[in-house]
Amino acid sequence: MLDKVKELIGEVNEFQANSPEAVEDFRIKYLGKKGLLNDLFAEFKNVEPASRKEFGQALNTLKNAAQDKVNTLKDNLESADEQKGFYGDLTRPSEPIELGSRHPISIVKNQIIDVFSRIGFTVSEGPEIEDDWHNFTALNLPEYHPARDMQDTFFIEKDPDILLRTHTSSVQVRYMENNEPPIRTISPGRVFRNEDISARAHCIFHQVEGLYIDTDVSFADLKQTLLYFTKEMFGKSKIRLRPSYFPFTEPSAEVDIYWGLETETDYKITKGTGWLEIMGCGMVDPNVLKNANIDPTKYSGYAFGMGIERIAMLLYQIPDIRMFYENDVRFLEQFKTVL
Ligand code: DAH
Repeated sequence: MLDKVKELIGEVNEFQANSPEAVEDFRIKYLGKKGLLNDLFAEFKNVEPASRKEFGQALNTLKNAAQDKVNTLKDNLESADEQKGFYGDLTRPSEPIELGSRHPISIVKNQIIDVFSRIGFTVSEGPEIEDDWHNFTALNLPEYHPARDMQDTFFIEKDPDILLRTHTSSVQVRYMENNEPPIRTISPGRVFRNEDISARAHCIFHQVEGLYIDTDVSFADLKQTLLYFTKEMFGKSKIRLRPSYFPFTEPSAEVDIYWGLETETDYKITKGTGWLEIMGCGMVDPNVLKNANIDPTKYSGYAFGMGIERIAMLLYQIPDIRMFYENDVRFLEQFKTVL
């Protein structure tokens, strides 16, 4: 009797099946109501008392082995099934993949980079924490210059002054200090101003600075570059340059584009004029060239600076600058289709 049980244990361990039906037959054969195990347990009373302990242990081993076998065979078949299903039906609609979206500031920044890189501008960056020289003094804004007040600076340290840059014009200076003309570069980046936060203004925002230095660069070159930019970026080809003042350029101008007066929104954003201011620009002041070790008798150049938020607000009709920083997914997911 004991030998028979041991033989069965061997059989169970050897057993393999490649269909659920075969596993079920096996289960019924050993573990079913009328199965071998129940028969053997019924024989228990006929075993001599001296052998009962060994017989009982062997029966338990057989029972556990049969149960384990059923479980592992079932598991194996199921995972094989899953794999077959996975590769099997390639026409089955797939699970939708949730894609994230780019932030509108990144989208517009990349578009601006794209437009200028097509005419040979490289991208350069500088630090957000600046010294007085690069943010002010080298840009023709010496100490006590009244225009410094316009910039609402966040200071980190005083004497010597360390501050959060108030504009990306600081990168102009760094770039000229480290590169020889000809220079064609744009510098996108984050800037900081100690201003009250409202729908139109924020204490953190982004700018793109442009700088072009070579021999014989004229205001006409500047105007043509800006016209190219506005055409590519907005699809608008009418601009005007209004005389203005920046310490680092002479002459200086503000650039307006003719946006049109077709819709009510056009009226609102252009205050009924059809014109929109989009950036500041000018011919780099000879003092600034000198400060960055470039000979102003040999070289001239132009520069411009624009706010990325302002352009994104125009392109996407975003009514409030604060929306860029709240990270509300209902806002952000509207940019999913744009790369
Ligand atoms: N830095 C100026 C600002 O933050 C923008 C600007 C104006 C940059 C004229 C320039 C420029 O390079 O030529 O308001």
